[in-house]
Amino acid sequence: MKSIAHDISSLPARFRDKQGRRITVQAFRTKDFDALVQMYDTFEPKGTECGLPPRDPGMRMAWLRDVTKELFNILAWNRGRVIGHCAIDLARKDSCPEYLIFLRQGFRNRGIGTFLCEVMKSVAGEVGCKKVVVTVRTANTRAVKVFQKVGFVFCGDIAAERDMQLLIKPGRSCRRCHEDERD
Ligand SMILES: CC(C)(COP(=O)(O)OP(=O)(O)OC[C@H]1O[C@@H](n2cnc3c(N)ncnc32)[C@H](O)[C@@H]1OP(=O)(O)O)[C@@H](O)C(=O)NCCC(=O)NCCS
Repeated sequence: MKSIAHDISSLPARFRDKQGRRITVQAFRTKDFDALVQMYDTFEPKGTECGLPPRDPGMRMAWLRDVTKELFNILAWNRGRVIGHCAIDLARKDSCPEYLIFLRQGFRNRGIGTFLCEVMKSVAGEVGCKKVVVTVRTANTRAVKVFQKVGFVFCGDIAAERDMQLLIKPGRSCRRCHEDERD
């Protein structure tokens, strides 16, 4: 998507994870593509979260081409490696932008996911998003905990995979979440 990274004051961001490792968070640049592919080539387990990241290398490459073309992408780096990736569909900022987040194994449960979600929330707020939606397996209790910590709440039908929504500002509803308009 058209680069808006230069307009976003929330990026870049730096912090230390719970092990003291330096983590740099910045908007995806075209030159980062190979490093992102490398993260997903070694990512495990593949295919668990809504089929993502795809197990098949060709489908994984096609997915990453689509995601980096269509969504606003944020990468977390440590020692020259991409160790985390989140993306949000800012083209749908007036409705319900979808959100995805994946961290490399060995970097999970160290506060990085929470930090990335907070950065995403700031970015969404800066560009005027009213609401962000993420689909999560209810059995993925760590992901659910992280999303709840930053303010996501369950919405929609009860199922093994559920939508969670984050209201950035009170405002319009999400049709997908079967809610009424508030204003
Ligand atoms: C889900 C994910 C993004 C979370 O990021 P993270 O960096 O691991 O999470 P954080 O360390 O920031 O926070 C984890 C929180 O959950 C808690 N937690 C850890 N394991 C848990 C579990 N099994 N059940 C419930 N809570 C758990 C931790 O105590 C921590 O809470 P605290 O900070 O209040 O102590 C990351 O683990 C990941 O990429 N997992 C694989 C891909 C995935 O599931 N993506 C989400 C798809 S929707």
